[in-house]
Formats: sequence, structure tokens, C-alpha cells
Amino acid sequence: MTPVLAVRGAEKRFGAVVGLDGVDLEVNAGEVLALLGDNGAGKSTLIKCLSGALALDRGMIEMDGRRVSIHTPADARELGIETVYQDLALFDNLRPADNFYAGREAAGPRWLPRSIRVLKRHEMTVTTRQTLARLQVNLDDHGAVGLLSGGQRQGVAVARAAAFASRVVILDEPTAALGVRESRRVLDLILRLREEGKALIVVSHAMDHVMEVADRAVVMRRGRKVGELVPSAETHAEIVSLIVGGGG
Ligand SMILES: Nc1ncnc2c1ncn2[C@@H]1O[C@H](COP(=O)(O)OP(=O)(O)O)[C@@H](O)[C@H]1O
Ligand SMILES: [Mg+2]
Repeated sequence: MTPVLAVRGAEKRFGAVVGLDGVDLEVNAGEVLALLGDNGAGKSTLIKCLSGALALDRGMIEMDGRRVSIHTPADARELGIETVYQDLALFDNLRPADNFYAGREAAGPRWLPRSIRVLKRHEMTVTTRQTLARLQVNLDDHGAVGLLSGGQRQGVAVARAAAFASRVVILDEPTAALGVRESRRVLDLILRLREEGKALIVVSHAMDHVMEVADRAVVMRRGRKVGELVPSAETHAEIVSLIVGGGG
């Protein structure tokens, strides 16, 4: 099976600091890949390179076996890659629908110049509600996002990514700020996206969540991939020791 997304020989430096040092990684359709590692391991750097926030110094990214160039967030979006950052990047004063379409408003008619097209407000609202319903993100109120609970906000952010990601959804610590019940909902959401055939990359420190939803785990340390295994009760201790690292 050709992976949906593959990273080969990824290198990234920040001056003298090594962010990524020859990282290879693959993720398939209908698969959840956990990206693990202690602080400073390079997880966010890797994600940023996949979402176009940073550009690799060396190495390449492939989709469906073909080399692609991702230099801006727009490049990643066009390839069907959406990222949910840890801070969610939601506009608190806006409704879910406005958040979904911020920066990519649906407007028409298409033959008019962009600047004078009319926003398709109704269409955006309906599509947003349909996506939230499909993913079973239940909101009692579709008012400003700032009034929602942490879990609901996370739900809106993940649903937004799901709505536009045709291939890959990347999540940075999706349950870090959530309680048990809210985490449960987000984990269910991740499993639903997997069922839909998306490829998911999830950064998480919550080992129980990783054990539950990840099909595979890649462990990074100091910019390198130090291990790759299937999370299970048997491999739990090994994963933890790879994350922590032996012998300094
Ligand atoms: N913009 C930056 N400028 C300088 N150093 C950076 C920058 N971003 C990340 N780094 C460094 O790169 C390394 C990897 O960081 P990061 O990818 O954020 O790790 P993680 O997300 O796994 O905690 C760290 O040493 C970090 O200090
Ligand atoms: Mg990070």
C-alpha cells in the first residue's frame, strides 16, 4: 500500500539548534499514527513542516508516492492536509460557521472578481452544521465559540479540520486541556475520521489515549526518530523508555 503521506530524510535547523535530523515517517489512509517524544524532540517542528508553517531544509514530502512541495499553509491545504494546533486558533467572538470559513469564505458567483463576490452565508452555516452533526459534535448553541466548553471548542476545531482535509488530519495534543468525558468525545471523533479513511497524525503525551486510538507510534528524541512500534500493553514500557531515553 502506498502511504498517503511520507516524509523522507527530513532535516531542519534553527541556527545551531537541530530541529529535525533525518526523519522518515509514513502514514496510511484509515490509520492513526501517534507522534511521541519528550519536550524538544522535534514533534512540533515536523508538524509545522507538514502544514506549511515551516519549510524543510533537506528531505522531501510525498503524497500518494509523489513528491509534493509544501512551503505555505495554503500549499498544505490544497493537498488536503489540515492541522489542529494546540492553541486551536479559533476566533472566540465568531460562530462555528464563521470559524470554519475564516480565510476561505465561500462566495459567488465564480465569474465575478473575488473582491465583489457575495458571501454564501446560508451555505456556510448549513455545511458547518452538517459537518458538526456528521461527527456528532453536539453544541446546544451555535453562537460565539468563546462561550463553548473546552471539549466543544476542541470539537469545533477538529470538525473544521475534518471538513476541509480530504486526506490528512494532524492534531497537536488534542486532549491535553480536557477532562475525561471531553477527551472521550475527541477520541471518538478521531476514530470516526479514521473510519472515513483519513490519515491521522496525533501528537500526545497521554499514553492511555495513544494506546487506545493509535495504530502505530513513532518516537522522536532530539530531532531523530528513535523508534517505531505498535502501541499495546506489551510495548507500553518500551515506548516510555524510548521517549525518556537511556544513558542521557
Ligand atoms: N523557531 C525556533 N527557533 C529556534 N529553535 C527552535 C524553534 N522551534 C523549535 N526549536 C528547537 O527545535 C527543537 C525541537 O523543538 P519542537 O519541535 O518544538 O519539539 P517538541 O514539539 O517535540 O517539543 C528544540 O530544541 C527547540 O528548542
Ligand atoms: Mg511541541
